[in-house]
Amino acid sequence: MKYVTVKSYEELSKMAADIVADVVAAKPDCVIGLATGSSPVGLYNCLADYCKSGKLDFSKVKSVNLDEYEGLPNDNEQSYRYFMNENLFSKINIDINNTHFPDGCAEDLVAEGKKYDELIESLGGTDVQVLGIGVDGHIGFNEPDDVFTLETHPVVLDESTIEANARFFESIDDVPRHAITMGIGAIMAAKKIVLVANGANKKEIMEKAFFGPIDPKVQASILQVHPDVTVIYSEV
Ligand code: F6R
Repeated sequence: MKYVTVKSYEELSKMAADIVADVVAAKPDCVIGLATGSSPVGLYNCLADYCKSGKLDFSKVKSVNLDEYEGLPNDNEQSYRYFMNENLFSKINIDINNTHFPDGCAEDLVAEGKKYDELIESLGGTDVQVLGIGVDGHIGFNEPDDVFTLETHPVVLDESTIEANARFFESIDDVPRHAITMGIGAIMAAKKIVLVANGANKKEIMEKAFFGPIDPKVQASILQVHPDVTVIYSEV
């Protein structure tokens, strides 16, 4: 594991974007795993700049997002599909048909999880996975648990996650309580992983996740045994 501390969000974003950009440049038809939330927004802006300036071509790239809220259709402004359209897909030349999410509106979310894992496998697996981390140590929406769940699966969100994500909603009551998330299996199967985190509120969990024992109560701690992971943290 490479753990890098940087001095600003800008530095973090550029460093992470360069890792992703190198993969895209080396393999134009690569599969990128994507995260939503505040942490990767700067990274996505850098990728958009690289695309706009002609440095990067996403026309053959495929993407698989980590998670989606349950019951929010794609055109709902709070859905993760909407977030990605706004923050990345509309700014780069990716073919929207090549961008994938687990369907949070599927009737049978267990079956949907199986379908999503099969899709990721059929694409040849993820070449580079972008991750953020929750204050409870979640990656994707893999919340603290007694086990690491490998498959894409439905989840009940932790109270701390609901509180953290309430900032994107009008009121905390509007935050969905359920979601579907890629499991630890597909995340760990990514050939390369870059995790970005910023802010003093993440300092404690960063210590626990990357310098503490591997423990499903801190799901991100499993990344310590991935062969190619870069963790980038900025306190400001
Ligand atoms: C979202 C996701 C989550 C976030 C995490 C951090 O797709 O996978 O694990 O990365 O909740 O969110 P932010 O970056 O908003 O602090």
